Amino acid sequence: MASKRVPRPGECTPEAEIAPDAVASPRLDFGRRAFLKTVGVGPLAASVVAAREAEAQDAAAAIGPAAVPIALTVNGRRHTLQVEPRVTLLDALRDRLDLTGQKRVCDRGSCGACTMLVDGQSVYACSMLAIEAQGREIRTVEGLTDGTVLHPVQQAFCEHDGLMCGFCTPGFVMATVALLEANPSPTPDEARRALDGNICRCGTYKGVLEAALAAKGVRRG
Ligand code: FES
Ligand code: FES
Repeated sequence: MASKRVPRPGECTPEAEIAPDAVASPRLDFGRRAFLKTVGVGPLAASVVAAREAEAQDAAAAIGPAAVPIALTVNGRRHTLQVEPRVTLLDALRDRLDLTGQKRVCDRGSCGACTMLVDGQSVYACSMLAIEAQGREIRTVEGLTDGTVLHPVQQAFCEHDGLMCGFCTPGFVMATVALLEANPSPTPDEARRALDGNICRCGTYKGVLEAALAAKGVRRG
């Protein structure tokens, strides 16, 4: 009678062909649950389950894509409106609140025409969602004048020929306001750096820079 062959070390052999007495230890019959308990990862498995449940709850709480109610504070005034979560801050203000001072030019965060102030920082409003701006202080060029009195930056732009077309100028003005509120006496290099996110295709950079250096009396708005 032919005896069963003993496999070589590392050889992959069907179990039926292995002689029972060639197996070094009895076969352990572990299920997955028993294995996890044995190696002490029970708590880890439980935390994974908890994380998945939390994710599921978050997904249930997700908003949109339909319009949702939001509240925005713009130039000191609170507005409530309905917007789809995908709507940018720029479009919400221009299309829903009729605040069209800031312009949509590139619509991809590269020209600066849409520059607004959010909590005192200049931002590209075409690249921020309206729902993200809730609870924050939004300022646009419409909020600069005091009655019929121009803001010092607007006045300086007029006196130093810092404006040409209506597309870029409001963004430059707001970027300059952000600069001077943070640093009332910038050096030319500091002003250049603060305004280098704004593009003018007709070349008013010299006048804008002169206006930024000349404007005095800018206070936090
Ligand atoms: S329109 Fe926003 S950066 Fe150009
Ligand atoms: S101010 Fe608009 S292109 Fe120069």
